[in-house]
Parts: sequence; C-alpha cells; structure tokens
Amino acid sequence: MKFIDLNRQYQAYKQEIDEAVSNVLESGVFILGPVLEELETSLAAFTGVQKAVGVGSGTDGLLLALMAIGVGPNDTVITTPFSFFATAEAIMLLGAKPVFVDIDPLTYNMDTAHLLHTVEALKNKGERPKAILPVSLYGQCADMDEICETARTADIPVIEDACQSFGATYKNRRSCGLSLMGVTSFFPSKPLGAYGEGGMIFTNDPELADELRSLRVHGQKQHYQHTSIGLNARLDAIQAAVLLTKFKHFPKEIVRRQERAMTYGSLFQQYLPEIQLPHIKPDRTSVFAQYTIRLPDDKRARVVEHLKTRGIPTAIHYPTPLHLQPACAHLNILKGSLPHAEQAAKEVLSLPMHPFMLVQEQEMVVTAIKEALAKGH
Ligand SMILES: Cc1ncc(COP(=O)(O)O)c(C=O)c1O
Repeated sequence: MKFIDLNRQYQAYKQEIDEAVSNVLESGVFILGPVLEELETSLAAFTGVQKAVGVGSGTDGLLLALMAIGVGPNDTVITTPFSFFATAEAIMLLGAKPVFVDIDPLTYNMDTAHLLHTVEALKNKGERPKAILPVSLYGQCADMDEICETARTADIPVIEDACQSFGATYKNRRSCGLSLMGVTSFFPSKPLGAYGEGGMIFTNDPELADELRSLRVHGQKQHYQHTSIGLNARLDAIQAAVLLTKFKHFPKEIVRRQERAMTYGSLFQQYLPEIQLPHIKPDRTSVFAQYTIRLPDDKRARVVEHLKTRGIPTAIHYPTPLHLQPACAHLNILKGSLPHAEQAAKEVLSLPMHPFMLVQEQEMVVTAIKEALAKGH
C-alpha cells in the first residue's frame, strides 16, 4: 500500500496529461507563458481572488510574499511552531525572527487567544510584528477571521500558509483568499500536485501582485531593468500544463478525499476515545492533505511498527516542533514553552490518504491499528 498513490491518479488521467505535456514540448515555451497564465486565471477564479502568481514552490511563495511586504533583518513575524520547516525557514532566510504562538490541540492550528496575548505582549515592549503567518494545517483553515481581526486592530498584514489547504473552504470562502496573501504548494503529494516543484500566491491587491511578478523574476519590471532584489522563482510551463489538467478533476477529488475521511471516521468509531480523529470545525471543510489521528506516544510507536509489518506506511507530521529544531537554536526558546505543539508532536500519526484509496485498503489500515492496540492490553 502507498501512503499517497500518485500512480493511480496518473493512470486515470494519463491520456490528457501526456497530451498537455506534449503540447508544451511542441510549443517551445517552457518558462512562464500562456499555459501558466491560463492556470493563474483559473485558480484565481476558483479561490475567488483577483490575482494569482505562479512561483517555483510553496517555499518560494512564502519567501516572495514576505519580501513583498518588506520583511527583513530585525523584523519579527508571528507564526505557529507546528508546521513544516519551510514556514519558519522563509522568515529566517530574510533575517527576521519567528515568534511562535502555540496551537489549538484539537485542530493543530494557531491558538487565537495565544495570538492575541502575544501581539499585546509585543506591543507592550514597543514591538510591532511585520506579519502574521498562520498555517492551515492538514488541509483545514486556521481561524482566519479571528486572526485577521487581531491583525487588523494592530495593523499587521496576514499571510496564510495554505500549502496544505488549497481547495478547503472557510465560511463558504476558499483558503488562499482569506487574508492579504495566501500561498499554496503544488508539491506532488499535495491535494493539487504537480510533477515537480510548484507554488502559487493569491492576492486581491493588484499592486502587490505586480510586485510579486517582478520579484519572481529577479526583481525585474522590464527586461534587464531590476528595481529590486528578487529571486528566480518561476513556475514552469510543463508543471502548469500538468496542474491545469489535474485541476479539471480537482473538485471531484476533493469530494473523494472527504468521503475517504468519513469512511475512516466510521471505521474508527469503536476505538474512540482512545484515538482522537481529525476535528473539522463546522464552519469549514478540509481537503485532508493528511488524515492525521492522535494517540498516546507509546501506542503510536506500537501502531507504526505493527503497520510496517503489514506493509502499511504511516508518517508523522511533524515529529519536532519548529522552535526545537536545531536550526532554530539561536532563538533560545525553551523546551516546554509551547506545550500543545510539543505534545502533539509526540502523538500525531498520519495514515494513508488519497482520492484513489479503496475502502478495502482503509479497512486494512484500521484492522491493523486495532491489532496493534489489542497487543498492549
Ligand atoms: C505548511 C507548509 N508550508 C510550506 C511548505 C513548502 O512547500 P514546498 O515544498 O512547495 O516548497 C509545505 C510543503 O511541504 C507545507 O506543508
């Protein structure tokens, strides 16, 4: 069994994808170009946002978004400690300092009460963070309205790290269109995945979109006229063609992901409350980039080992919170200071999940977990 079976997806759309890639090869336009423009227009319409800018990866997208609002050395950016490393990495690459706020232990997203407290504590020290960067983890949006309200009151821009949540809804709006900028990733295993690296930034601010377009091509506004220091962070035409083809099937795939999640939910019913299932708030939907359960750490280790013997892969997203990563040692954040993130890191476990997963495979996963738990009794 595969954790995410991309081959089944390719086999399902093979003819269309091969044709789209072949058309790019015939066109001779490989970087930016009309296919990317069509993708940007289509995804902007889908997210309900005016402008979309295709970039080289989700990491590039976060970096460019922070650059576009002028984040630099000695700035602080508020974010979550429970995410993929790239979230904090983008901040630190610009010489800025991440300030972490703890997570809600049910959704694993930024805790809004802790955010408010952190913004006020910084204000009392005379500091105004340059941005707030919440992550919509596992495919479910963070509490974006509360976050944006706290940010608005303190006059701080919000960038949603939507690398895992493209397609998710929040109060009938789409992830990526809920704040000043939303950044997603098209890494192959993401809900909408390319066949290489890719990402996109969404914004309703046309001037910001122009700045992002310039920054993704070395800060160039006209050919060989560089008005700022940027990056080479373009999305290529082959990836755009793959994405455009897969995007036609994406709404159907989201439904299938949600069906798979419901199936897991009903199969696990009898193991509650020993296992904590994903908690999706009633005003939003998840695209289940991950299907992540939670169980005490001794049991997690047992489940991982037992599933391995049954040929079932699992993953831990993420075993080390960002503030405890060696690369963040210079921040001097003590172990124990973000208890919810630290506890979640010990207990979360992601199970195989993709739109082409069979119910029989899900039954195998749940049966194997049941066997592993029974071993301990
Ligand atoms: C939450 C989060 N942020 C950022 C990234 C970085 O995206 P990419 O791998 O496309 O650079 C990822 C993807 O792995 C992610 O999951």
